[in-house]
Amino acid sequence: MDKNKLVFSGVQPTGNLHLGNYLGALKNFVALQDQTKCIYCVVDLHAITVFQDPKDLKNNILETTAGFLATGLDNKKSIIFNQSAVSGHAELAWIFNCVARVGWLNRMTQFKEKAGKEKEKASVGLYIYPNLMAADILLYKATHVPVGADQKQHLELCRDIAQKFNNDFKKNIFPIPEPLIQKNISRVMSLRDGTKKMSKSDESDYSRIDLKDTADDIIKKIKKAKSDTSSIPDNLKDLEKKPEALNLINIYSDLSEMSLEQVLNEVRGKDYSYLKNKLSEVLIEVICPVGKKIKNLLEDKSYLEKVLREGTEKARNLAVHNIKEVRNAVGFI
Ligand code: TYM
Repeated sequence: MDKNKLVFSGVQPTGNLHLGNYLGALKNFVALQDQTKCIYCVVDLHAITVFQDPKDLKNNILETTAGFLATGLDNKKSIIFNQSAVSGHAELAWIFNCVARVGWLNRMTQFKEKAGKEKEKASVGLYIYPNLMAADILLYKATHVPVGADQKQHLELCRDIAQKFNNDFKKNIFPIPEPLIQKNISRVMSLRDGTKKMSKSDESDYSRIDLKDTADDIIKKIKKAKSDTSSIPDNLKDLEKKPEALNLINIYSDLSEMSLEQVLNEVRGKDYSYLKNKLSEVLIEVICPVGKKIKNLLEDKSYLEKVLREGTEKARNLAVHNIKEVRNAVGFI
């Protein structure tokens, strides 16, 4: 256990967890919990930056918690809780709203993508979302943050906020947290368009593998996945020109724990149907047991609520101490 390292990360409870969440984030969360103290948060305050039906939100909070446990997080090793239950997140986010600069937020590409042409109609919460994310991390003085590549810019903003706060108040309160981004597969792409990331919000179910998909769903989705008309290239340079093929091979490489070169040796010159069969097999082997566990865990909602309650207690104890220090630095009585 590394005592100087504290890991924090969060996942939004906005629908089904998918393969991108698993390979980009959750798999890494699980590996880290044996090395260091980890805090994993179901970020329900972030979820409401886009309207959520309250009933759906309640279910999704529990389902995301079930997803954490089903992929291998252990609530005896890691702190697992939901964000809105610890008021320090919102309190520190407000202070950070006054530290972060408008120009910094204007540069956030995710806001531009999410708000699209309807920028004027987006919630203010969606705009200042990265400040809340910085508050999540810094409320616990976390030093390392495992995320997918899509969150890198938000992490950079968090580092800027930590630095500016320390400078403004002339106190070295916050560490400057490091992103931990998977090297092999930091961005799982859509199965329908290899230039877009796999995402919960994509309208097409065929664009993603959900952790609750059955073996039949997986076979169907991989069969329909966009690939290429020619056979599989025999070198990385050519493969990189074919984003859909590269994505399928990246996923296969990660799940089967083979390097890209090893996979290319196996599949070069073959038809995509060969790769797709192999990929479906390994997906079924890895994902279906997780999906079954999620469904089982959801049968006992009171257990999931208890996990969150116990995690909240632990998170609160850490947060209370740090928020006191911040309030004092700012000059609050
Ligand atoms: P969210 O809920 O969109 O996604 C959860 C995690 O999954 C990763 N991810 C992906 N990784 C690879 N390929 C993909 N296609 C893919 N899609 C999603 C995300 O990078 C993320 O790590 N803002 C965050 C939640 C958050 C947070 C935090 C994270 C709130 N506070 C503090 C870290 C620290 C988000 O919306 O993740």
